Amino acid sequence: MKRLISLLLLLAIVLASAGCGAPAQAPAENAPAAVEEPAAESAESAPAQEPDDVPEDEAEAPAAEEAPETATLVVYFSATGTTRSVAEQIAALTGAGLFEIVPAEPYTAEDLNYGDHSTRATVEQNDPDARPEIANEISLEGCTTLYLGYPIWWGDSPRILSTFVESHDFTGITVIPFCTSGSSGPGRTGEALGELAGTGTFLTSTRLRRGMSDAELQEWIESRG
Ligand SMILES: Cc1cc2nc3c(=O)[nH]c(=O)nc-3n(C[C@H](O)[C@H](O)[C@H](O)COP(=O)(O)O)c2cc1C
Repeated sequence: MKRLISLLLLLAIVLASAGCGAPAQAPAENAPAAVEEPAAESAESAPAQEPDDVPEDEAEAPAAEEAPETATLVVYFSATGTTRSVAEQIAALTGAGLFEIVPAEPYTAEDLNYGDHSTRATVEQNDPDARPEIANEISLEGCTTLYLGYPIWWGDSPRILSTFVESHDFTGITVIPFCTSGSSGPGRTGEALGELAGTGTFLTSTRLRRGMSDAELQEWIESRG
């Protein structure tokens, strides 16, 4: 009888420990389920976000194409680097494309010697019909705002600017002229370039200086917009 009781007790212990095993495993099974549930939730919410994301992506791509880098351009001529420096700063501040008007025949230091009136730059400036050739090309397609920079030569814009404005169609473009100089102001150079171009809206030119602070230049940019 004692043996039978002991046997029954042993059986009860074995059964009890087998019963504890199941719940011990159950959380292990539930654990991944618990991990999966939020995953399933995020999977559910993901498709809800995807339609938002996709049109956004799709909307961004054509927008980038519709607003090409060329929408705003900084075009400049610079014989000794002063106007280039200002042009680069404007391009950096506006995110505009940058284009340098390169003369087919580069100006040498002697060409630029305005102490001698027989040198090239001065001879060109004395001839309103001079049109120095440009070596490179730019398309203004898609451009709506164009900053146009040049040095002042004998109170005027260099004749190569005349070549440039006469060889492009500025229809639909606001041209914002700027210049650098030893001390002279821009005079009517902006308006005169507009008259030569015959298309586009040419604003009055502004004399800018190399080494202007970004804040100063930004203020000027905003004043032209
Ligand atoms: C042929 C020539 C004529 C110039 N005439 C003038 C002028 O009339 N007034 C002036 O203030 N500076 C004059 N300058 C100086 C330039 O306008 C000035 O150095 C300018 O910032 C140079 O710009 P760049 O380095 O972009 O070529 C003249 C320079 C040259 C080469």
